[in-house]
Amino acid sequence: MSRILNGIVAVCPNLGIGKDGKLPWHPIRLSNEFAHFRKMTATPSVAGKTNVVIMGRKTWFSIPEKNRPLKGRINIVLSREYKVPPAGAHYLAADFSSALTLVDTELAEQADQVWVIGGSSLYKVIFFLLCLKVFSTLVHYIIFIFFFRFPGVPKELQEENGIQYKFEVYENI
Ligand SMILES: NC(=O)c1ccc[n+]([C@@H]2O[C@H](COP(=O)([O-])OP(=O)(O)OC[C@H]3O[C@@H](n4cnc5c(N)ncnc54)[C@H](OP(=O)(O)O)[C@@H]3O)[C@@H](O)[C@H]2O)c1
Repeated sequence: MSRILNGIVAVCPNLGIGKDGKLPWHPIRLSNEFAHFRKMTATPSVAGKTNVVIMGRKTWFSIPEKNRPLKGRINIVLSREYKVPPAGAHYLAADFSSALTLVDTELAEQADQVWVIGGSSLYKVIFFLLCLKVFSTLVHYIIFIFFFRFPGVPKELQEENGIQYKFEVYENI
C-alpha cells in the first residue's frame, strides 16, 4: 500500500533542531508552535482513524514524561537496542522500514496519516528520500526559501516570548 509520509520539524536559521536533548530554544516555550504541531499530527483526514507518529528513541525521551505517549496518535519509537517499547510507547520498530511495514499490516485498518517527528536521522530519510510533504516551522527570522501555501497553516510571521518564527510547508511533487 502506498502512503504519503509527512514530516514535521521546527528549525533554527542554522537548521539546528535540538540542543542537549531539548529543543534549541529551551527553556522558552512556544505554545502556539506546539499547538500547531499537535493539530497537524493529531488530526486525521478520515473520521474514526488515528494518525501515526514515528520518532527516534531520543526524541521519545525528549518529550516530557507527562506528555508521553503523544495523545490521540499511535506512537512508534525506533531503536536498534531496545527489545520492547519504552514505557508508554505503543510500538517499537528496529528500523524505518519495519515501522512502515507495521503501519501497513497490523495498523492498516486504524492508521491514517503517518508523521515522522524526528530526530535528525529520521529527518535525513524523510527530507532527502521519502518525504512528500514537510510541514516546518522556521524559528527566528524570516528565511527566504520557496514555500507552498497549505490550507490552515498561517502564513504570517509569528511571535511568542520574543521569538519570531514562520510556518512553512514544502511539498515534493
Ligand atoms: N526541532 C524539532 O522539531 C525536533 C523534533 C524532534 C526532536 N528534536 C530534538 O532532537 C533531539 C533528539 O534527536 P536525535 O537526532 O538526537 O535523536 P533521535 O533520532 O530522536 O534518536 C536517535 C535514536 O533513535 C534510534 N534510531 C534512529 N534512527 C533509527 C533507525 N533508522 N532504525 C532504528 N533505530 C533508529 C536509535 O536508538 P537506539 O540508540 O536506542 O538504537 C538512535 O540512537 C532532541 O534534542 C530533541 O529535542 C527536535
